[in-house]
Amino acid sequence: MQMKLKITAAAALAVAAGVAMGQDVQVVKIGHVAPMSGGQAHYGKDNNNGALMAVEELNAQNIVIGGKKIKFELQSEDDAADPKQGTAVAQKLCDSKVAGVVGHLNSGTTIPASKVYNDCGIPHITGAATNPNLTKPGYKTTYRIIANDNALGAGLAAHAYSTLKLKSVAIIDDRTAYGQGVAEVFKKTALAHGMTVVDEQFTNDKATDFMSILTSIKAKKPDAIFFGGMDPQAGPMLRQMEQLGLTTTKYYGGDGICTAEVAKLAGGAKTLENVICAEGGASLEKMPGGTAWKAKYDKKFPGQFQVYSPYTYDATFVLVDAMKRANSTDPKVYTAKLIETNYKGVTGTIAFEPNGELKNPSMTLSVYKAGKKTAL
Ligand code: ALA
Repeated sequence: MQMKLKITAAAALAVAAGVAMGQDVQVVKIGHVAPMSGGQAHYGKDNNNGALMAVEELNAQNIVIGGKKIKFELQSEDDAADPKQGTAVAQKLCDSKVAGVVGHLNSGTTIPASKVYNDCGIPHITGAATNPNLTKPGYKTTYRIIANDNALGAGLAAHAYSTLKLKSVAIIDDRTAYGQGVAEVFKKTALAHGMTVVDEQFTNDKATDFMSILTSIKAKKPDAIFFGGMDPQAGPMLRQMEQLGLTTTKYYGGDGICTAEVAKLAGGAKTLENVICAEGGASLEKMPGGTAWKAKYDKKFPGQFQVYSPYTYDATFVLVDAMKRANSTDPKVYTAKLIETNYKGVTGTIAFEPNGELKNPSMTLSVYKAGKKTAL
């Protein structure tokens, strides 16, 4: 009898403590979406790491919003770079009532997901998807904190016709919203400046054998190949270019190939030295506090850095900055504050155009020297 009483008293105490904590601490979920499985999982992991680092640092700040101490929790979802899975997990995050979303990574998933977020009234910020069409519908819930492919495609083409004075190019894309879009911008700009497009070939974002399209391209003897796609394709393509003797052909691509991983996936092929890639922001060395941030990241996630994690880190802080300014974690209240963002992040000062695009984006071209990505 006595024993039973004791347990009851302890349980009552625990409940009382729980209630007290519940009153003081509010859990606010932030969603993160990227491919966490499949051939693009390394990008997803890197993006997730950036958001996770931000959440940990925000929680250490003991932030109070609306009179409550906030504990942020990251709800990570995997869209496997697949458009259908992209909308399915977007709906899942809506149903989970996350306060905001960092993502997605691919344009092919982010564009359809943006409609889902708009319909359920949850803002999302991508630090990776670069297709310009993302911001065309003008959703008040869609934001991008990197340059888009109009800048990347045009910048790469300018390097080809103006810096290297190349005359001809063959274009390959992976038929995704990203690959097709960035290739289209490159082509338009290259043609407008007198370059000749000698061949156009297509692949997909699962392929690893490019021998037949590269053989067709080789016969046309282009000065350069432009590839619109991601590194799981670019790596083997560079190896196969070496096998076919395409060893002096320049190889252009956007942020999708501008990763640490592409050097590994190229497996020692010398053609890696012919790569010129673009990303929609400053190089880490030129980002305010970029070098210190990278050291912190590497300590926490050794060998996992790819390209976008500084942006997903900043995107998480930008969401919370808007919540703080609105003194509310309710997306119906704080979303309106996002457009007024003026946030000094690791990647630079983040402010938005009326359509949710980043104001004054920068762009960096890189090459690979001795297997290491090096900004030009
Ligand atoms: N920038 C790439 C895309 O938009 C990752 O899909």
